[in-house]
Amino acid sequence: MARVLITGAGRGLGLAFVRSCLTRGDTIWAGVRQPEKSPQLTELKAKYPQELHLVPLDVTDAAAIENVWQQLHKEAGALDLLINNAGINSMSADAGGTAAHLRLGELDSNRMLAMFHINAVAPLMLAQRCIDLLATGDNPRIISISSWLGSLANKASGGNYSYCASKTALNMLMRALALEVISKGIITVIFNPGWMQTDMGGPRAKLTPDESARGILQVTDNLTASDAGRFLNWDGTEHPW
Ligand SMILES: NC(=O)c1ccc[n+]([C@@H]2O[C@H](COP(=O)([O-])OP(=O)(O)OC[C@H]3O[C@@H](n4cnc5c(N)ncnc54)[C@H](OP(=O)(O)O)[C@@H]3O)[C@@H](O)[C@H]2O)c1
Repeated sequence: MARVLITGAGRGLGLAFVRSCLTRGDTIWAGVRQPEKSPQLTELKAKYPQELHLVPLDVTDAAAIENVWQQLHKEAGALDLLINNAGINSMSADAGGTAAHLRLGELDSNRMLAMFHINAVAPLMLAQRCIDLLATGDNPRIISISSWLGSLANKASGGNYSYCASKTALNMLMRALALEVISKGIITVIFNPGWMQTDMGGPRAKLTPDESARGILQVTDNLTASDAGRFLNWDGTEHPW
């Protein structure tokens, strides 16, 4: 019965985390930019009014992060699990609505930095703000959703600069955090969720987001201090850096 904060909870993998956590009896603070655009989340809120709290959260907005901390401090007192899930890829509307981030010759530094902010820096900013809540939580963990495309061992394809590098940066930031906050008893790991059937992954993907979310939560439940800073697949196997 953990107290869980999930970012990007309105659709895709984030929504699947909400469903899985509710099923096992957790209390969830679901970070979402526009709840009215997620009928599934609104339906879940009607079904689980006590267990599901909707919190406005654009992860790049420092004031929104502060408000989330205030709400958690007041309503939960502590946090047991932070799930840094929100992210965009080169095709997302937030990236400018085109695949320009994929192509040499069309790269734009401002758009690259915006993607770095959402995918890499924002998860660390949120974790930083929530450290005191996590430090007093039960068996506290921070998990961050990365990608095989952030792995330096990935040789499958070139291009896709912004997404790949932002996930590599996320990996390093979270590894550095993991090695520091283990002294507070907080276990931090990075997950590759696999190729999933979401808006980002598309319909041809192999996994459903529910399968990935369930796998990640099961692995997360069984983490020990010696796992801090590892890069894992959704099924718990090691992912190469
Ligand atoms: N799908 C795959 O195959 C795949 C593979 C590897 C890794 N991943 C990673 O898995 C995570 C979830 O991906 P997904 O497939 O569920 O993607 P998705 O269906 O495109 O959903 C992305 C989520 O991130 C949220 N988001 C984007 N920018 C945000 C911001 N500035 N503030 C707060 N929330 C923001 C979106 O919120 P809105 O609804 O408000 O836009 C949405 O909830 C991402 O980190 C992604 O990089 C996915």
